[in-house]
Parts: sequence; C-alpha cells; structure tokens
Amino acid sequence: MRLTQEQERKVESILARMTLEEKIGQTNLESPSIVGGFDVPFEELIEMLTDGRLSNEEFGKIMATSSRDYHEDDIRAGRVGAMMGDDPVKANELQKIAVEESRLGIPLLMGFDVIHGLRTVYPIAIAEAGSFDDDLFERTASMAAKESRAHGINWNFAPMLDVARDSRWGRVSEGPGEDPRLGARFARAKIRGLQGDTASDRNYVAACMKHYVAYGACESGRDYNTTMMSTSMLHNVYLEAFRAAVEEGAASAMASFNDLNGVPCSVNPYTLRTVLKDGYGMNGFVVSDANGIKECVAHGIAADEEDAGIQAMNAGLDMDMGPHIFKNYLKKAVEEGRVPMEILDDAVRRILRVKVWLGLFENPYVPEESIRTYADSNVPEEHSTLALEAAEKSLVLLKNEDNLLPLDREQKISLVGKLADSRTEIIGAWAMSWQERDCVSIREGLEKAGANVRYFACGGPEGELDSEEIRQAAEWGDVIVAVLGETDAMSGEASSRADITLPGKQRKLLKKLLKTGKKVVLVLMNGRPLALGWEDQHVPAILEGWHLGIRMGDAVAAALLGDLNPEGKVASSFPAENGIEPLYYNHPNTGRPGSRSKFTSRYLDAPFEALYPFGFGLSYTAFSYSGLKVKEEEGGGAFEITLRLANTGAREGTETVQLYLQDKAASLVRPVKELKDYMKVTLKAGEEKTVRFRLSKKDMGFYDNSGKYLLEDGLFKIFAGGSSRDCLEEEIMVKF
Ligand code: BGC
Repeated sequence: MRLTQEQERKVESILARMTLEEKIGQTNLESPSIVGGFDVPFEELIEMLTDGRLSNEEFGKIMATSSRDYHEDDIRAGRVGAMMGDDPVKANELQKIAVEESRLGIPLLMGFDVIHGLRTVYPIAIAEAGSFDDDLFERTASMAAKESRAHGINWNFAPMLDVARDSRWGRVSEGPGEDPRLGARFARAKIRGLQGDTASDRNYVAACMKHYVAYGACESGRDYNTTMMSTSMLHNVYLEAFRAAVEEGAASAMASFNDLNGVPCSVNPYTLRTVLKDGYGMNGFVVSDANGIKECVAHGIAADEEDAGIQAMNAGLDMDMGPHIFKNYLKKAVEEGRVPMEILDDAVRRILRVKVWLGLFENPYVPEESIRTYADSNVPEEHSTLALEAAEKSLVLLKNEDNLLPLDREQKISLVGKLADSRTEIIGAWAMSWQERDCVSIREGLEKAGANVRYFACGGPEGELDSEEIRQAAEWGDVIVAVLGETDAMSGEASSRADITLPGKQRKLLKKLLKTGKKVVLVLMNGRPLALGWEDQHVPAILEGWHLGIRMGDAVAAALLGDLNPEGKVASSFPAENGIEPLYYNHPNTGRPGSRSKFTSRYLDAPFEALYPFGFGLSYTAFSYSGLKVKEEEGGGAFEITLRLANTGAREGTETVQLYLQDKAASLVRPVKELKDYMKVTLKAGEEKTVRFRLSKKDMGFYDNSGKYLLEDGLFKIFAGGSSRDCLEEEIMVKF
C-alpha cells in the first residue's frame, strides 16, 4: 500500500480535526446486532444452539422473526470505523450515513470473509496451493475482489497465511499448507490479486492477511490452543508469508487468537510492533480476531476487559472486532494517560490511510449499475471458467495402479457415496447456502460429460451404510467410483479432529466394495490431509479432490474420463496413520533421523515417513529427471541450477519441478530440506527440456534466535525433483 504525499497529507489533516471520541470510533469494527424474536442476549442464543438447548429448526424460527440493528446512530455520531457486511444495498445506505451525516464524513470499511470466492467459489486454499500456480492464485483473488466490491465489500479477511503442519487442525483447509516458501508465493499473488496496482480502481479491495501469527502451530492441532516456539522457528517458518505479504503491500492484518510463548497475539508488542510495524514497515493497520481482545481475560493475561483493551492498543493492535472493548474503555484510558495519545493517533492514522488509499473518500458507494446482490444473480461466465481451471489444476492423482485411470468412456460406472451427489459439500468451509445454485456435483459432472453412470448412495461421512445399495452398485457397474471424505463442516474453524482417517463408516464401505471383486477408484473430498495408509494399500486408484468449488464435478469428471491430465501436488504431507502428526517434510535435522533401525526418531508401530510427501502428485504420463548441474554465476551473487526433464509417457502433461536446499552444517540445526523455488513445465509425449533455476545467495541464509538473518559459509546440498522426496542432489561449497 503506497500512498502519495498528498494522500498522506489528507490523512494528517483529517486526524488533526478529530475529537478523542471520533478517533476511538475509527478503531471500532461493528457488526449488525440481531434483535427481537428472543429475550436472551444473542450470544447466549448462539451458546444454546451450540450446546443443544436449541435445535436448528427452533433457531431458524427465532431468526425469521428477528431484525438487524445496523447501529446507524453510532455511525452518525462517528463511533464506527468499519462494519461487517455482505449486503450492497445496505452498504450504500450505511456509507451514506457515514459520509453525509457524520461530522467529518469519514467513509466506512465494509469487511467480510471472502476466503475462496464470494459468488464464484474456487478451491479451498490447501487445494489451490497444490496447483503451484502463482498466476492462478492471483487471478482467482482478483475475481473474488471484483465480486466483493460489487457486493459492497471493500475489505476482505483474506488471505489466510498460517503455515499448518498438523492435519488435525481444522483450519489446515483455509491456508496454503506446510511450507513457508509456497506460502510466501501464495501470499504475494493473493495480495496482488486482491489489491491490484491502483487500489482506488473500484475492482479491488483492501486485503487482511491472517492470522498473525503462528496460529497454525497450535499445540496438538487443537483450535485456539497455545503456541510455543523459538524465535528462529517463528522467523524462518511462520513469518515468511507475512513478510512477503507486507512487501507486496498488504493493507491490514488480523491478530490471531493464540498466545505465542505466553503472550496472546492480540496484546503482543513483539509481533505487532517490533516485527510487523517497526521491522517490516507495515503502514496499514491490525484488527483483532473476533473477541480476540476480550479473550485476553480468559487467557489470564489481563485482569479485566479494560486492562485487555489498554494492553492491546499499547501493543499495536489498532482495531477491535468484538464486544466493544475499545469503544467502552479507551476514552478513560487515554484521559488518564494509560494509553498515550500518540499510540491512538498511530492506530487511527493507519486506518485512515487504508480508507484514503482505497479511494473511499472519492468513491464511497457501490455504483447503482454495478451492484450485484449475488443471492439472486448468476455467476459470470468467465468467472465460472476460471473456477473450473482452478479446480482442474488442483486435483492430485495419488495412486494409479496398472493405469486404472483414466476410465474408458464406455464402461458402466457405479458412482457411490453421498458426497458424490452433493452440491453443498464441494464448496468447503466458509461457504454460503446461496452459492450452491451454480455448483456442479460429481454426479452431475459425470452425467454432463456423457459417462455411463448410475448413482448409489450406499453411505457417507455420517450415518449408516446401505447393504442393498452396495450390492446393486457392485452388480451394475464395470467399475466403482467411490466418492468419500469429509463434509464441509468437518474442517475450518473449530473443526479439529483427533482421528483423521476417513470419518464414519466409510472405510468399512470401501472394504465391502473391494470385497465384491470390482475395481474401485477412490475420489476424495476433504479439507485436510487424511491418514490413508489402509486405502493406499488396498485401493488401486486414488484421486484427491479436496473441496474444489462450484465446478468440482466437471473437473473430477474430466480427470476420471481422461479429458484432463492431473497436475496438482499435495501442499501438505499425508500420514499413513493417526498419531504421527505434526508431519512435514522440512523437519529440523535430528541426531538420529528416522529409519528402519530401532534407535532412531520413529514410532515402533507406525511408518516414519509420510505416505504422500509435500510436493507429491502423479500424472497420466511419466516424467524423468537427469543431469542436475549447479554453477556459480559470474560475480558470485547466485547459482544457476539446470536439469533435464523428459516426458517419457504417452500423453502431454504438466510437471511442477521443485528446487530444495539443505544447509549441511550451520550454527543452528536446519531443516533436512527446504523449498526455495518451483516451476511448472508442460511437455508433449516424448519431449525433453532443460529447466533452469536461479538461486540467489541472499536466499541461502536463516534467522537465528535473536531474529537476525545470517549467511554462513559452508557446505550446502541442492535438490531438484518432482516431490520433496524424489530428488536429484548435488553438493556445493558456498562462500558469501
Ligand atoms: C475467524 C476469522 C474471521 C473472523 C470474522 C473469526 O472467528 O477466526 O478468520 O475472519 O471470525 O468472521
């Protein structure tokens, strides 16, 4: 986010005219309150729904008789800086009050969770990251930005950049996986896509990178849990994507719920002030996560709400998403000198900057002609095509024994599993019911593609199996395609799972299907890496489909029938069994690396390696790697790395060539391997190409435990290959 001098002057001149109350108003992110229809506070109603005192049906009835309070009087009085909202007509009404009726006419930020698409839903992040396609990351983000803006949203709570290495954590689905470098490339592309070059162009929005920081490292993958790590690990792994996003100009950040080494991220001066603002020079603002400040009381770091608010503002948290902590307590705290006015001014300046930069003062409204109330309009054709491309590129072929896939078009396909006939589940977490209208289920996708298919529900992630349907499916089809996995509610926020094998009776279903003697193809629909050791051993072909968005059915049908050749890779390692998470390829070296021998870092009763390691994914063709060469460039600032890639199979295919590095001896223990670069290469059958990478020496260092970046001379290993496991390697001596 770069402002001109004139824009900065505008920010200062507004700030100079503001009263204390108006300043505090800017730090308040308000959400519409639900009123009427019930006589307990709304929060309690939600609790009653959660603990079962209220059924969904009863809740629905109450909601139908309630209305929303948009806090118009507070907006008019300058007590609101931003609003949660997803209604363009309402957004214009509220904006009009802010602009025309408040004393200073400061427009509102309108924020919403547009995580992987608004009207047009594209794949969940963990899936899209596996396409390793930076250009695609950017294009899907700008599509989402365009739809958001037309829908009255000018601030997106995305991208989610949490490195996640424990697949029990439900929010693995929302982010780009286990690797910091892939995460950083994803971050840059998403920020470019959401924010564009010229933010005042009304097709773009302010991004909000989240959750800052290390939320993905929550202990044992249990959501909202504590996080402990060294400073070196924080900087090398968990901060890389955020650093990249700031360099790309991210306008805002959201502080995460977790504590980091004992200090909750909402009140953490080291991460907020020292690293993000003073260190990286972020000029935008930081918002709390929902109730994040208030929860510091439950964390036991603040005596009460007032104390939490004071700690948060002083630490560098600029806006409160939650129950009015800043609104209720900041005035007295500033008047008593417990929050210095300069700190409040700094927060307000940052918020105003985003508003000025977005051009909201000049163009506060959604123009009438471009208003899209998406609940009742169609997905634009080009957006739907892009959603299809994203789904196609994110599919990962995990296993294909005897080239069972692609299927012969004439074969009779028994399509099994409730997920195969579902439109609601394919869009994944953060989906809304009205998005389903344009969804293509897997069943519909196969039917549209002209497959000879018949559907038998048989069972799903929840509920019982139907033996009669299983019998019929086996009898009718030449081949069985079983679509199994997780519902959309089984991943995402507050959806950690201790058991990450196929939920419910689905493994039993697979066993019954295999017992019939028919060939079985497993298509997975899930929001996290699952423990698939048993499936890998027994099922001949496995296609990982994740939650791929509105065109999932078309993409899966094209892959099954061979109209497309899968090219996705997994952005997160898959375990064979429960109990071996966290699991990630770029693990620090140990003195006794896991091996078959007993006295090594392993379990007695589980494999020591991932079943499908990061970067792994098959194709209907085959690629061979040879001739890895590493040469220091003239001038000595970088290495040129070349290799030969050949398509040795019978059809065109696209491969993601990955470059990894290992520092063989350093002053701190370093990872066994870390991704540095990747490149997608498309080759015709029989074609061969030289692939070339440039690795800058500046990119060969690491952060120590004081957060300092070090470049240390010595021996390094370069790896290149088609996954983090299968690589060519070469050692080099490096002098910086
Ligand atoms: C989530 C955030 C989200 C926010 C606003 C929170 O519960 O953790 O990711 O942006 O709600 O909806």
